Amino acid sequence: MNSILELHELTRIFQVGNVLSTNRITAVDHVSLHVGAAEILGIAGESGCGKSTIARMILGFEEPTSGTLVYRDREGQLVEGRKIWRAAGIQAVFQNPFETFNPLRRVERYFFDAVRNFRLASTREDAERRINEALNTVGLTYREIAGRYPSEFSGGQLQRISIGKALLTRPSLLIADEPVSMVDASLRMSIVNLFKKLKEDFGISVIYITHDLATAYYVCDRIAIMFRGNVVETGDVEKVLMQPRHPYIELLRDSIPQADPDKRWQTKTPLTESEREEYMRTGCKFAGRCPHVMDRCREELPRDISVNGVLVKCFLYDEAEAEGA
Ligand SMILES: Nc1ncnc2c1ncn2[C@@H]1O[C@H](COP(=O)(O)OP(=O)(O)O)[C@@H](O)[C@H]1O
Ligand SMILES: [Mg+2]
Repeated sequence: MNSILELHELTRIFQVGNVLSTNRITAVDHVSLHVGAAEILGIAGESGCGKSTIARMILGFEEPTSGTLVYRDREGQLVEGRKIWRAAGIQAVFQNPFETFNPLRRVERYFFDAVRNFRLASTREDAERRINEALNTVGLTYREIAGRYPSEFSGGQLQRISIGKALLTRPSLLIADEPVSMVDASLRMSIVNLFKKLKEDFGISVIYITHDLATAYYVCDRIAIMFRGNVVETGDVEKVLMQPRHPYIELLRDSIPQADPDKRWQTKTPLTESEREEYMRTGCKFAGRCPHVMDRCREELPRDISVNGVLVKCFLYDEAEAEGA
């Protein structure tokens, strides 16, 4: 398999609570995933299911409790262990472009800093040419950003600029964590389209993290759906979203439009009681809400079962069924 990034049993446990009551929640629970070359992998699920923790571990902002990462760099060398982000070629795009850029700094400074840090050019002219090239890819020019401050751009423009900046080093993998959730709804598709273009024109792989299944369906090749730290279903985006096997995905599809996820994304809220309970469950984390729940679901966590090319973590699909499915 021609994967550029693999996660093997990646796990992150957090201690939450106060002195009187602490809980250990497994925010990311033995997650194994891979991203192919020139592939867009979606990681989707409700707020608090562990998506950003995965991104943060890939980027080295968070130490895994256990598990490993394997990254194949541009020269085909394997970089293995916990510090793969040091390998050039992985870049990130975050949710809030207004946090990416300091309001008191002209945005071009970020580009010149990157050029200097990665020694991308030897003269000012070269640097401008390289910056212009990266900005052209996202539909902008150096002249349009020169001398301007973050507040002079809209959220959508600034997110484009942030993607342009990520492209300066010609990465092979972009980790985009909720890149359009703070962008005007009318501009979301144009940003999401950029990821497709980067994949098609430059063979860049993207991990597209989102709570929005509509953009995920549009942009992703494969998708992993998370629930309380577990990936409950992974596979071809069409199969997973159009004929979901895991009962949680049915619920997710129905609940997202009414839940006003945009609102919930803006602040980091503490764990609700029901979230905490679900995280603490021994068996399937979804057992408390699942219309198909069986006794064994409350006792043990299902393993991943392959059904028609899709991996699903659910006892409804035991091996016998899987064979015939
Ligand atoms: N630094 C931290 N300390 C304690 N708990 C954390 C920390 N970071 C994340 N969590 C918890 O881990 C869970 C997953 O969080 P996160 O990865 O941010 O989810 P998502 O990105 O899907 O919204 C949440 O319950 C969150 O409260
Ligand atoms: Mg997040």
